[in-house]
Amino acid sequence: MKAAVLHEIGGVPRYEDFPDPVAGDGEVVIDVRAVAVETVDKRIAAGTHYASRNYTAQLPAIPAFDGVGTLPDGTLVGFGNPRLPYGALAEKTVVPEGSYVPVAEGIDPATATVLGTAITAMSARTAAGFVPGETVLVQGATGVAGRLAVKVSRLLGAGRVVATGRDDDRLRSLGADAVINTAVLDDVLAQAYLDAKGDGYDVVLDYLWGRPTEILLRSLVPKTFAFPKPTRLVQIGESAGAGLDLAAESLRTSGVEIYGAARGLDPRSMNEAYGQIVAWTQPGSSPSTW
Ligand SMILES: NC(=O)c1ccc[n+]([C@@H]2O[C@H](COP(=O)([O-])OP(=O)(O)OC[C@H]3O[C@@H](n4cnc5c(N)ncnc54)[C@H](OP(=O)(O)O)[C@@H]3O)[C@@H](O)[C@H]2O)c1
Repeated sequence: MKAAVLHEIGGVPRYEDFPDPVAGDGEVVIDVRAVAVETVDKRIAAGTHYASRNYTAQLPAIPAFDGVGTLPDGTLVGFGNPRLPYGALAEKTVVPEGSYVPVAEGIDPATATVLGTAITAMSARTAAGFVPGETVLVQGATGVAGRLAVKVSRLLGAGRVVATGRDDDRLRSLGADAVINTAVLDDVLAQAYLDAKGDGYDVVLDYLWGRPTEILLRSLVPKTFAFPKPTRLVQIGESAGAGLDLAAESLRTSGVEIYGAARGLDPRSMNEAYGQIVAWTQPGSSPSTW
């Protein structure tokens, strides 16, 4: 088969021949139809993601760990978790039985594979226990994952959605209730977070980390003794920085709780989340019952 093959960490995958995968016990071979190359795939291949180590041990290997393809019986599915050295960027890959969910008729494979990125936004529910009516702040809402997060927040029943980014035109196009441009001076940004928070941010879906999140967390520290409404922040990405300076009082007095996006996720709940996202794309789909 043909595949994009990575020969060295930090190298560029080469389009070349690679042995066809053979399914072992409890595995199934998938005919790949579409793959969205995500930031995480690029970082793994570049050697800047912790999962790069798995690849180093298996080179040459095929990048990308999810996509859309067909099962041996022709069913179109979204799949994940290929067995290394097989990845999704190939004509065929091999995954554990059940590591896939059917794609509803009428969705083309290219669209279906990008929808996988929306699973990150479902962490509002799985990691942070979001309930309908709550206010969601999406940090990095002009990116691929963030734009989907704005839509998912609405579909989950958010009462209010606040979106941040660096481009005013793209921010306005998101349909959020309030937008914040993070490319401003620190004190202006801190004030913008306060002005937009309404009754308070219940859940933050954070694709940025770094400077904007540091300023957000500082802005949530009350100015007087108070019992603020807790904000549950879900750490998903790090487009603005890998670290931040977290003041002790940010946790002590602001009621902020910080979770990782993987909290509450396992293969079954990921499949369920993806199934709900795909269901939302269907005409006449109802709000979340997930
Ligand atoms: N954990 C997961 O399962 C998962 C899945 C998908 C994504 N992610 C992570 O989520 C993050 C976003 O992914 P993506 O695919 O949406 O990336 P993307 O399309 O490149 O979007 C990046 C977002 O971050 C903003 N941004 C970039 N650099 C910034 C900076 N220095 N300061 C402030 N804002 C900045 C961008 O604003 P502009 O629009 O102005 O450039 C945009 O809103 C990445 O870290 C990615 O690895 C994680």
